[in-house]
Formats: sequence, C-alpha cells, structure tokens
Amino acid sequence: MSLATSYLGLELKNPLVASASPLNSKLDNIRRLEDAGVAAIVLPSLFQEQIEADAEARLSFVDAYADSSPEASSYFHASIVGPYAVRPDRYLDLVRRAREAVSIPIIASLNGSSRAGWIDHAWLMEQAGATALELNMYHIPVDPLESGIDVEARYLEIIRAVRGSIELPISVKVTPYLSSLGHFAATIVEQGAAGLVLFNRLLEPDIDLSRMRLVDTLTLSNPGEMRLPMLWIALLSGRTNASLAASGGVSDVTDVVKYLLAGADVVMTTSALLRHGIEYAETLVNGLHRWMEERGIASVASIRGMMSWHRSSDRDVYTRANYLRILERYATA
Ligand SMILES: Cc1cc2nc3c(=O)[nH]c(=O)nc-3n(C[C@H](O)[C@H](O)[C@H](O)COP(=O)(O)O)c2cc1C
Repeated sequence: MSLATSYLGLELKNPLVASASPLNSKLDNIRRLEDAGVAAIVLPSLFQEQIEADAEARLSFVDAYADSSPEASSYFHASIVGPYAVRPDRYLDLVRRAREAVSIPIIASLNGSSRAGWIDHAWLMEQAGATALELNMYHIPVDPLESGIDVEARYLEIIRAVRGSIELPISVKVTPYLSSLGHFAATIVEQGAAGLVLFNRLLEPDIDLSRMRLVDTLTLSNPGEMRLPMLWIALLSGRTNASLAASGGVSDVTDVVKYLLAGADVVMTTSALLRHGIEYAETLVNGLHRWMEERGIASVASIRGMMSWHRSSDRDVYTRANYLRILERYATA
C-alpha cells in the first residue's frame, strides 16, 4: 500500500504535514514530529513585523552606539514578546538546524502583507536551506476604499517579487474571502506559485460583555471549520496546476480521509497536535493506513479527488442548484 503523495513537486511519504505553529519552532519537537510520521513540517512564520522591528532596532542601536561597535543584534524590539519574539537571524538558524536534524522537507513560512524589505528574507530562507517557502499574506482590508482588485493586486505583487528572488517552490496560504478563488488560484500559478494552502485562519475577535472589551485570544480549531476548505478543495481539485494543501479543522483520521477524497494533496494539522501532543501524528498516519487497508485501497493517489467537483457524478451538490433542495429537505423533515 502506498500513502505517498506529491506536494509542490516534493515527493512525500504520506499526506500528513505539520502546519505552521510554535510547536515546530523547537528542534526536539521537529525530530519528534518526524518520528511520529509527519511527511513535512512548516515552520512557524517569520513575520514582516519581526523583520521590520529587527531592522529598526539595529538602526537605532547603531545610531546610539555608533562609536562603540557592539553587536547590534543583541537588541530586539520590546513590543514583540513570547515565542514569536524571534529575530530573523535566529529564524534562519532554525531553518538550517531543522534541515540538518531531519530528512523530511522543511517548509519555511514568511508572513507579511505589504511590498517592502521583508521580502528579501525569502532569499535568506532559501540560502539557509529551506525545502520550500509558504507565503502567508494575512491582510484584512479594513480600508473601505481598498477594492477587491486592489487586494488581489497586492497579493500578486508580493508573489511576483518573491518568485523573482528565489528558486524554491512557493505555496500561498490564502484567505477564503476572495470573490473568485478559482480565478485567483489560476493567476497565482501563472505568477509562479506551486501550491495553495486553504485556508489562512482569520483571527476574529469576540466581545466580552461583562468587561465591555474585545477578546482577541487564539482558540484551537474545531471540526466544523473544515467544511469551507473542503468545499474549495473539492472545487479546485483537478482544475488547477497548483498543489492543494488542506488546513483547518482536522480532529481525527476521518477528517484526513475526507480532505483527500475532496482532492487535497496534503492535509495539514496544528490544533490536533497541540491538543493531543505530537505523537498524535502517528495515530493519524496509522489510522489512514488502517482505513485504506480495511477497504482494500492500494494508494492515496487512487482516492485523491474521488469526491471532487471535477469527478463527481452529482456536481449540483456543490452549487446553487442544491441550495433550494437542502432548504426544502430541512423544512419538511
Ligand atoms: C498557536 C498557533 C500558532 C500559529 N502560528 C502560525 C504561523 O506562525 N503562521 C501561519 O501561517 N499559521 C499559523 N497558525 C495557523 C495554523 O498553521 C493552521 O493554519 C490553523 O491553526 C488551522 O489548522 P488547524 O485546524 O489544524 O489548527 C497557527 C495556529 C495556532 C493554533
């Protein structure tokens, strides 16, 4: 039986990938993830803000101590704290050490939203030995004057700039809130991206009524969150040259199987690993193996996209045609 899959042109032993999170920032965890069977690891993102803060800090340090020539890199912007207070040079070091520590692909992640100096770090990540680059352009168009066309143009400009500076395969972690995702997927492939990660999870603040405050804590995902990425993977599978990575809501092996049936080339997971521990990856990979064995399925390739729009005999289920049917069924139940 073969669990093998291909993602961004990389041959992977199975479709399970550890998505970007601080869990993957420690070398020991990276080794444990490999031992637990994940086929590739996305490092936590290096953020535009971290790169800019570092550059700013270096400048002010150099200004203040121009004559004493100390190590400017011993200073870092105080507004970024915790595991994300990573200086870019340390991040590059992590890429280097992770590549040496394991034999599975290490995907570096660069997170930013404007066309500025931070893009140079794609090249530095390539030099540090990253196997591929995931580009996360987390951008919320709060300005009502910024049109959908402007938003897409911003994304495309960044992708073009990164593509122009490195040879590595690039995946783009996208938001579902684009007006025509299929068209956008085709466009980013034209610009040289090799894959899409569906989706980037927006951090939506809640309101605490007792304190009359906004609550911006990060919550782990729940299984219901996979329906939207699964829909889009099913719609894109077989109709784009981009590799498709599913990201969001995996809680057990059935979710992994569903994403593959929809057409994902790889299935990513973060919350499940944070919830149950790194070794849960082994449960997922073994579970996939068992699920296929029990059904006499010889390879992941043979089931991938089986339930996609492209291969479905009932395409209406994915479209407006099914809308009224579902509502009627609910009303008469
Ligand atoms: C604690 C935490 C940190 C994360 N950090 C990053 C990050 O640095 N870059 C990124 O692109 N996504 C980050 N994510 C998002 C995950 O990679 C993933 O896309 C999201 O959690 C949905 O997948 P899941 O349902 O398997 O958790 C983070 C998620 C969590 C929970």
